[in-house]
Amino acid sequence: MVPEKIREEVERLRREIEYHNYRYYVLASPVITDEEYDKLMQRLIELEEKYPELRTPDSPTQRVGGQPIEGFETVEHSEPMLSLDNTYNEAEILNFHERVRKTVGDVEYVAELKIDGVSIALRYENGLLVRAITRGDGIKGDDVTANVKTVKSIPLRLPEPLTIEVRGEIFMPVSYFEEYNQQREEEGLTPFANPRNATAGTLHLLDPAEVAKRNLDSFMYYIVKPQQYGLKTQWEALEFLKKLHFKVNPHSKLCKSIEEVIEYWRNWSKERSKLEYWVDGVVVKVNDFAKQNELGWTAKSPRWAIAFKFPAQQARTKIIGITYQVGRTGVITPVAEFEPVELEGTIIKRASLHNFDYIKEKDIRIGDYVLIEKAGGIIPQVVHVVKDLRTGQEQPVTVPDECPVCGGPVGKESKEYVAYKCLNPHCPAKLKRHLEVFVSRQALDIQGLGPKIISKLVDAGLVKDIADIFYLTIFDLAQISGLGPKMIANILSEIERAKSVSLERLIVGLGIPGVGERTAKILARKFRSLEELANASIADLLLVEGIGEDTAKSIYDYFKLPKTKEIIEKLKKAGVNMKSNIEVKEDVLSGLTFCVTGTLKNFSREEIKRYIESLGGHYTDNVSRKTDYLIVGENPGSKLQKAQKFGVKTLTEDEFLQLVEERKKKKGEQQK
Ligand code: IVH
Repeated sequence: MVPEKIREEVERLRREIEYHNYRYYVLASPVITDEEYDKLMQRLIELEEKYPELRTPDSPTQRVGGQPIEGFETVEHSEPMLSLDNTYNEAEILNFHERVRKTVGDVEYVAELKIDGVSIALRYENGLLVRAITRGDGIKGDDVTANVKTVKSIPLRLPEPLTIEVRGEIFMPVSYFEEYNQQREEEGLTPFANPRNATAGTLHLLDPAEVAKRNLDSFMYYIVKPQQYGLKTQWEALEFLKKLHFKVNPHSKLCKSIEEVIEYWRNWSKERSKLEYWVDGVVVKVNDFAKQNELGWTAKSPRWAIAFKFPAQQARTKIIGITYQVGRTGVITPVAEFEPVELEGTIIKRASLHNFDYIKEKDIRIGDYVLIEKAGGIIPQVVHVVKDLRTGQEQPVTVPDECPVCGGPVGKESKEYVAYKCLNPHCPAKLKRHLEVFVSRQALDIQGLGPKIISKLVDAGLVKDIADIFYLTIFDLAQISGLGPKMIANILSEIERAKSVSLERLIVGLGIPGVGERTAKILARKFRSLEELANASIADLLLVEGIGEDTAKSIYDYFKLPKTKEIIEKLKKAGVNMKSNIEVKEDVLSGLTFCVTGTLKNFSREEIKRYIESLGGHYTDNVSRKTDYLIVGENPGSKLQKAQKFGVKTLTEDEFLQLVEERKKKKGEQQK
């Protein structure tokens, strides 16, 4: 028998944790620290382990992923999940508007961003998520509930006990997609062509614990039978979805005219690369549901909505050569060098060809004309070869028989890997790439040591491993061409400052295979020092939530290497911090969310972020309604207008510092 008190505690913990999930993942505005959150979760896990009968499918503990499954059940959709007709230019969208007007007269539209993800239907019964179904063929889809439960912005339980089906998009954020693809390339796996494929692949993994690690996110935009909930328009539906704690895209716009829609589309064609997710157009929807019904559907798509795609960002150019990049783990990536060509405002000179299988698959040769595209408006990629333009003079691309950097042997680590690697453990290219990571913003944040300087330091034999950075002297740096006395002084002071790096950043800098920022953060929270982490057994590592078998083994192996031991010893001797200092120093800004625009006098972006976080505040890159203050520096950007639109308070840098002082004083008085 479970005591009533425990039952109540479990229920309370679940409500609290789900609320904090919502604050963090949907609103991006947490009200407690990560440690406090961990404590709640730990307690819930403990109670569920002790009283397994209390485990329910909507428990937040399920978000880390349950047992692996055998396959996916096919489920019929409650109403077909159809797609949209596409339009590509302003004339076509005006045609659509004319057709709408002929049937229902003048209308308002809702313009939404068309998220490049995977569509999903979510069924809730009495407020509980019971099924998540992919689109499939539109009539039947796959039941991917166990995987979708790991998507933190999707509520497992609604704030009201509603029975409802909502639809929207699941996607992989760009930053995570890039990190994930890089990881794949380093592991010798074929990278995903775009976040949509990565999302679809992830949603079909058989192990939900793996899915949980991939940071999928969501936006919901559709309610099945919305009239049942008293909703009359799409705009109301979006508001209703927000009230139910779904994540709704903040950029949707209610437009009074088709001209406003076109303006929205023009603006986002330019601005889309600034988003954290990929969008491939605008979805234009008639706002009024009664009018939507009047317009009805064709067999394929609704007549009340249309996708207004962004212009295809493509160009044609010639491959004039192939160069090779050698990565941190020695993976050799072939890169196509182009005759420079303009694409959406930038000059493109090269694009990664990922690996030699990719080249074979697309039959890419030197001298070929190729069509290139900016995937998601950002990363240049070869779409296909224009074979009609071949002259017969084109040369095939071959795997280099020696490392293009050090001349070392080249090979595959195992047959399943598509990647070729430089097998020389002392290849300077590997060290250079590793040093670039080591000094990057995410790691030790040492300004002034760009790739060129790093390359010279390695070539001069002044830096033979990452720890050597801390032993550089003024005389060493003076040998490097292009460094003046002022720059040298700056670099040395940056290096000095970097010694007080946080443990999590130091871990990122070590470049342990499979350990990125997220994992580093988890590790720094669980282990109080680098020594403690270095001494952890595989079993200890597996006990840490969010660390899977591969990562545990990779961490363990890394710390067992004699070279690692040497590096850590050297870092320690140099006085580099190795202790966890994740705790908040002073809790004076807790509950407040800040954003920054323009250049500040006293802080870099990274510094102000750390400063705010060290005072218990929350820092975000983008302004939203949830932002409490926007700190405005010199030459502010568009965030300022956004803040004004949302009624977010603004502060100058001095006013911000004053606010901190006042709060510190107040806190001091309270404690007296
Ligand atoms: S509405 C019946 N809104 O685009 C209308 N779709 O080609 C349902 N999509 O399958 C679609 N963002 O996966 C709608 N804001 C948005 C969307 C969106 C992305 C996807 C969706 C759909 C496809 C249509």
